[in-house]
Amino acid sequence: MTRPAAPRPVGGETGNSLWSAVGWLAGTRAGAGATALRGLAAVLLAAVTWGWLVEPRWLQARAFRLPLAGGPPQPLPAAATRRPGPGGLRLAHLTDLHAPVYRIPEAALLRQLRAWQPDAVVFTGDLAEGPHHPATRGVALMARLARRWPVFLVPGNHDHLYGWFRLRRDLEAAGVQVLVNRGTVLRAGEAAVYLAGVDDPHTGRDRVGEALAGAPPGTPVVLLAHAPAEGIRRAAAARGVRLVLAGHTHGGQVRLPLVGALWIPGQGWFPRYDRGWFDIGGTWWYIATGLGTPRPWIRFRCRPELVLIELVPPAPRTGPPA
Ligand SMILES: [Fe+2]
Repeated sequence: MTRPAAPRPVGGETGNSLWSAVGWLAGTRAGAGATALRGLAAVLLAAVTWGWLVEPRWLQARAFRLPLAGGPPQPLPAAATRRPGPGGLRLAHLTDLHAPVYRIPEAALLRQLRAWQPDAVVFTGDLAEGPHHPATRGVALMARLARRWPVFLVPGNHDHLYGWFRLRRDLEAAGVQVLVNRGTVLRAGEAAVYLAGVDDPHTGRDRVGEALAGAPPGTPVVLLAHAPAEGIRRAAAARGVRLVLAGHTHGGQVRLPLVGALWIPGQGWFPRYDRGWFDIGGTWWYIATGLGTPRPWIRFRCRPELVLIELVPPAPRTGPPA
């Protein structure tokens, strides 16, 4: 009796290539090039695993002090963050939660805020992700914050994608103060600022002039803006805004060694305004990396961050001795 022939791999040349690749990955065809490629593949796999499992959950807290009378920002020493500053006004800056696409532990966020004791919490847009994702978790978190601190918020492009009308209604019902092209005076101790907010620039709704129209003369202005768009950069510098807090960039979300951020919407490849401090025409900007991890669903060398800015009032003038 004749035995049937053993089945051959289907696909001819393709099948042979597949078996070759399997052999290469299994290490049966060793060589310098193959070893290097295997090493590269292993590094890439480790980086993606790290960026998927670790960084989106690894909240970073950063604290700074900015004199309202002028001068650059300085890091706030850890020891100084745990008690109210001498008459300073403390803003906790959050941005880009992209609910429900965030994996930061809320308990860690709340613990840090309680330790800082801010005078207000500001959120610079993209609380929601989009029309197909419920923002309920994000609204609930804002409601939780608003029960303890004044919370001010400006919308981002994803909030408009989600549906700003219903999001705004839910946020205001939760006690969040929405600053859409308007502002309000904020005081703490000896410090006073005009806290203003502009609508999202990427959907063409930003009106810096309207936002700053109510600023009392001589009062330093802090502006909340979702993104460091060119129009806001120019307008803020022209009007002598002291500080702009922004997000949108996510710091690039994936940052390569020596290269930094690769691409940011609105700025393109190798963006200049990616994260951290920038002096733009005499106005200081802080661009935060955000809290959420939307597409491409990983963070690499770009942890989610929570930022404290302590605004220091000018020293009181002392008159000449009598
Ligand atoms: Fe965003």
